[in-house]
Amino acid sequence: MNILAIESSCDETAVAIVRNGREVLCDCIASQVELHRIYGGVVPEIASRKHMEVIYALADQALQETGMTRRDIDALAVTYAPGLIGAVLVGVNFAKGAALAMNKPLIPVHHIRGHIAANYLAYPELEPPFLCLVVSGGHTMLVNVRDYTDMEILGTTLDDAAGECFDKVARVLGMPYPGGAARDRMARQGDEGKYPLPRSRPGENPYNMSFSGLKTAALNLIHHAQQVGQTLDVPSLCAAFSAAVSDTLVPRVVMALEQTGCRKIAVAGGVAANSRIRADILEAAKKLDAQVYMPPLKLCGDNGAMIGAQAYYEYLAGNTADMRLNAYATKSILGEAL
Ligand code: KG4
Ligand code: ZN
Repeated sequence: MNILAIESSCDETAVAIVRNGREVLCDCIASQVELHRIYGGVVPEIASRKHMEVIYALADQALQETGMTRRDIDALAVTYAPGLIGAVLVGVNFAKGAALAMNKPLIPVHHIRGHIAANYLAYPELEPPFLCLVVSGGHTMLVNVRDYTDMEILGTTLDDAAGECFDKVARVLGMPYPGGAARDRMARQGDEGKYPLPRSRPGENPYNMSFSGLKTAALNLIHHAQQVGQTLDVPSLCAAFSAAVSDTLVPRVVMALEQTGCRKIAVAGGVAANSRIRADILEAAKKLDAQVYMPPLKLCGDNGAMIGAQAYYEYLAGNTADMRLNAYATKSILGEAL
């Protein structure tokens, strides 16, 4: 089954064609990062307009790259939630129009389920059940993937997402948006013990996380140094910050592996590209004899292929939509009848 999948929830327009949920035939991406950089973050209105401009050409490019025609496509898939509402709407409307014109099924995909499914592309042997740590620009959660479309949220951030904090602190340090990757590179030259940063343990659910205190502590440190004319050791601050994020995430992963007895841990989302987090998960999993699944960096960020991968399993579960499909800025990964 060939699925043409569309992703437009944030600042990448992406169209991919994926066969049977596992084989990427093409993965076309038009990134808007340069466009938003001068504003220090994504400007929703600009994002929507840019998606509109490129989405049709990108779908054509996907067909051209694979030598396929519309007749070779068996279904359309699209990210319908969560994301910037105007941006998500562009993809949803395009997919609805294409499904109607081509008379093919329309499969709505939750963006975070897509991030998790990036692992199916990188690891053909991976099948649920497994645990997945989702760390993206907008979401941080630990998910028990019981089956392809049956998930349990073990814990989630109660405030900011980890990626959001990486980006905010990077911005105040004068680094270009999105700052996570640049900070990661810088952190490798730093001394993580130089700046003590907090690790919070919020609420009753031990799997829940909080990053706003960490973000505020880092921002206060930077502002204080600026006010008293102190030169900051930026690499060390970056190293301390990555360490604090990892120290929040990894013990929860360990606890989940121990409590569920599951021995498979996958990571997903852009922040999963972070070298410190990757190294700490690998080390922790080794001690527990757990198998680690870490998609290559290209599949960690937003892309269309991950939506095509999850769409296949949503289709098998009967989760298709009709022309009443709407876009949603927020929606639980657990899903509900549409
Ligand atoms: O998953 P993603 O591409 O978009 C969302 O769905 O949000 O994640 C983007 C996030 C940004 O916050 C970016 O700064 C962060 O991933 N990121 C990183 C690294 N590479 C990307 N954060 C920390 N370390 C990295 N190496
Ligand atoms: Zn994403």
